[in-house]
Amino acid sequence: MYVCLCLGVTDHQIRDAIYEGCCSYRQVREATGVGTQCGKCACEAKNLVRHTIHDV
Ligand code: FES
Repeated sequence: MYVCLCLGVTDHQIRDAIYEGCCSYRQVREATGVGTQCGKCACEAKNLVRHTIHDV
């Protein structure tokens, strides 16, 4: 599922970034570019990061 349409970032890519060592939304944003264009996906991306980090 696409979280960020501007850059075509999927939930899978966000999870992978966390499994590969990102431990904050900021790091995920830097690794994937999510939320760096229009910013509409930021809220959803943050929630996904929060939930995924909680599960790791
Ligand atoms: Fe992610 Fe626009 S949808 S920055």
